[in-house]
Amino acid sequence: MNQDEKKKKVAESAFLTVLPSLNKETVLGIGTGSTTNYFIEELNRAKVSIKGVVCSSEASKENLETSGIKVMQLNEVHGIDIYVDGADEFNSRFELIKGGGGALTREKILVNSSDRFICIVDDTKFSELLGKFPLPIEVLEVARSAISREIMRMGGKPVYRQNFVTDNGHQIIDVHNLKIDIPYEMEATLNNIPGVIENGLFAKRTADVIIQATDLKIITLKKDT
Ligand code: A5P
Repeated sequence: MNQDEKKKKVAESAFLTVLPSLNKETVLGIGTGSTTNYFIEELNRAKVSIKGVVCSSEASKENLETSGIKVMQLNEVHGIDIYVDGADEFNSRFELIKGGGGALTREKILVNSSDRFICIVDDTKFSELLGKFPLPIEVLEVARSAISREIMRMGGKPVYRQNFVTDNGHQIIDVHNLKIDIPYEMEATLNNIPGVIENGLFAKRTADVIIQATDLKIITLKKDT
C-alpha cells in the first residue's frame, strides 16, 4: 500500500469510529492536509446531521462546502467535541509535529478547545525522537531574521518557506536538525521568542487517540488518562 492509500484508509476508519458519537448537538473540529481531506470526503458523502464544524483553514472550509454542514467560527461555539486532524510526525507519547500544511496556529487553537483530539496518520510518520520532519514555526514577517538567528544559536537550521503566507497573514520558517529531546520544553522555549506566533510541536496538548494505518491494518492507540 502506498502512503496515499494509507491516508485514505485511515481517514475512512476514523470516520467510522467517530460516526456513532455524532448527533445534532455535536461540534466537530476539522484540521488541514491530505489525510484530513479524505476524512472530509467521507463527511461530504455521508451528509451527517450535526450542529456544525470549525475548520483550521480556509482550504478545509472550501472542501466542506458540499457537506451541508454549517461551518462555524470557534467564537460561536462552546468548544469542540471531537477534533480530527493529521500530523507530520508522532511518537509513542502522542506528541506531534504539525504544520507541514502551514495551518499549525489555528490547529493548535482548535486542539486546545477540544474534548477529544483524534489524530489520523500512517506509519511512515512515526519517529520516537521528533524532529526528522522539519519543525514549522509561524512568525511575524518583521521578526523572521531575528528568530532565525536565535534558532541557529539553538543548533537548528531555519529555512524560510518561500512564497507561502498563512491564513493569518504570516510567514513560516521550517527548522531542520533541531534536537528535540523534551518536546514539551522545546514547545515553550520556541513560543517564548519574540515574534513567534506558534510552533508546530504539539506536546503540551497531545493527541488523545492516534489512528494509524500500516500496510496490514489500522491500529487505534488511546492515551492513558
Ligand atoms: C497542516 O498544517 C498539518 O498540520 C497537517 O495536519 C499535516 O501536515 C499532515 O498533512 P498530511 O495529511 O497532508 O500528511
